[in-house]
Amino acid sequence: MITAVYPGSFDPATYGHLDIIRRASVSFDRIIVGVLNNSAKSPLFSVEERVNILKEATRDLDNVTIVSFNGLSVNFAREHHAQVIVRGLRAVTDFEYELQMAQTNRVLAPDVDTVFLTTRLEYAYVSSTIMKEVAKFGGDLKSFAPKEIADALVEKIKRDKC
Ligand code: PNS
Repeated sequence: MITAVYPGSFDPATYGHLDIIRRASVSFDRIIVGVLNNSAKSPLFSVEERVNILKEATRDLDNVTIVSFNGLSVNFAREHHAQVIVRGLRAVTDFEYELQMAQTNRVLAPDVDTVFLTTRLEYAYVSSTIMKEVAKFGGDLKSFAPKEIADALVEKIKRDKC
């Protein structure tokens, strides 16, 4: 039984994240998605909101669990007896950072391997940061995330402006 964790900020989740979760859920027996509770990154959505958004968006996937975590990803992996950390790779620009993270994680925990899934081409440009930027200026979000997530983002930005 291979358990994989998929750690990230997910602020909020995009089609790119959901595609990685869906594909990882086919390749591994169990996926634990870890939403990083990191106030230093000052996320737009609270950790509870980010967890709930992902729970709703993945409710049809029986082997996927969504939880929050603090601290190191490798410790999160070990807590869940995971052998693998999954990360998505969109483009060469992601590679340097992701490689450094994977190598750091390997030094910290040689028993936990990082597996990269390449993002589907149609989502290669999608990121939470870009989606928030588009939302801030009233752009169409339909190519970035499912309607429920897009609506939550628009609502959050509207409230923040008040
Ligand atoms: O979605 P993101 O922001 O690209 O995810 C980054 C994340 C959460 C995977 C990374 O910042 C992380 O693993 N943070 C936890 C702290 C940690 O383990 N750092 C050591 C690896 S460099």
